[in-house]
Amino acid sequence: MARITLRQLLDDAAERGYGVPAFNVNNMEQVLGIMAAAGETDSPVILQASRGARSYAGDMMLAKMIEAVELMYPKIPICLHQDHGNDEATCLSAVQHGFTSVMMDGSLKADAKTPASYEYNVDITAKVTHLAHLVGVSVEGELGVLGSLETGMGDAEDGHGAEGKLSHDQLLTDPNQAVDFVRATGVDALAVAMGTSHGAYKFSRKPDGAILALHVVRAIHEKMPGLHLVMHGSSSVPQELQEAFNKYGGKMPQTWGVPLEEILVGIKHGVRKVNSDTDCRLAMAVAIRKVAADKPDEFDPRQFMKPAMAGLKALCKDRFEAFGTAGQASRIEVAPLAVMAKRYAAGSLEQTFSHAAAA
Ligand code: G3H
Ligand code: 13P
Ligand code: ZN
Repeated sequence: MARITLRQLLDDAAERGYGVPAFNVNNMEQVLGIMAAAGETDSPVILQASRGARSYAGDMMLAKMIEAVELMYPKIPICLHQDHGNDEATCLSAVQHGFTSVMMDGSLKADAKTPASYEYNVDITAKVTHLAHLVGVSVEGELGVLGSLETGMGDAEDGHGAEGKLSHDQLLTDPNQAVDFVRATGVDALAVAMGTSHGAYKFSRKPDGAILALHVVRAIHEKMPGLHLVMHGSSSVPQELQEAFNKYGGKMPQTWGVPLEEILVGIKHGVRKVNSDTDCRLAMAVAIRKVAADKPDEFDPRQFMKPAMAGLKALCKDRFEAFGTAGQASRIEVAPLAVMAKRYAAGSLEQTFSHAAAA
């Protein structure tokens, strides 16, 4: 059994200079597809469940699926992470179900739509962090609101995220405020607002620095070199998957995601967790559409899901290899939650701040 906390995994990633993809899971096929890729590449893995995933599969089913793959892949450290927790209850109930890490997304109010004040964000994130650390669980916070620098629109596309138009000030994490936020909350990792958004339609052209603000990542990393940064909305939406999706009857207008080479720049500057859901969905949807198009008489769900798992596995292997995660798993000795709790209590996991942080 090797359930790892986000903090321990990202500390290892920082020490060795690699990044870890965080893949969203909702069902057995996604869990199996991702784990097959992790097993073949010897990669530690972050499986994350949104609130939507928890209500879709049910907490019991999710928890038992993760227990099953722990037994199937005893050498692969698995971090089970709550994606975009909206309040204390979501985060604490995740812990009750075996999550080793939670995101308290206080950039939005509990309705997951209304941008929250800075004070609200600090207050709720600090509260969750205090409680989570008592039992060794890690916490990711978010400062700034996810959304497009091209349109100013928030991230409401897939059912959660800010509604309406946002200013650039809201859409970009302020590096000085980030220092204050990390000091005040004690989070282990910070999601950065930098022009990325969830879903397939992130950019209307290949992104450059004007619409994908990696300079924000660099500035925060300079001030807090030990802090683990998180890129949300980081699917690449590969051109070949868009074309295949449309070839087999889908309708996806030309779009651009976050190019892999930009993610690698992020990894050089403190990004340790790279969230990807859309690419996984797309890889599976392409395979399912292909079966439907090639074999209109097919109705056995397994004949759709087997190629879907294979498509997902191939995509995940690519990401593990690209981010340097491959080959790291069997080396890691997982610290139990009780050990992590002692480390927090002893103060040995507190953040360090560079001279630039004081400025
Ligand atoms: O956080 C964004 C992920 O794409 C999760 O999406 O809420 O539809 O599960 P979801
Ligand atoms: P994508 O929609 O780019 O895959 O982002 C997923 C994400 O950030 C989940 O938190
Ligand atoms: Zn996200």
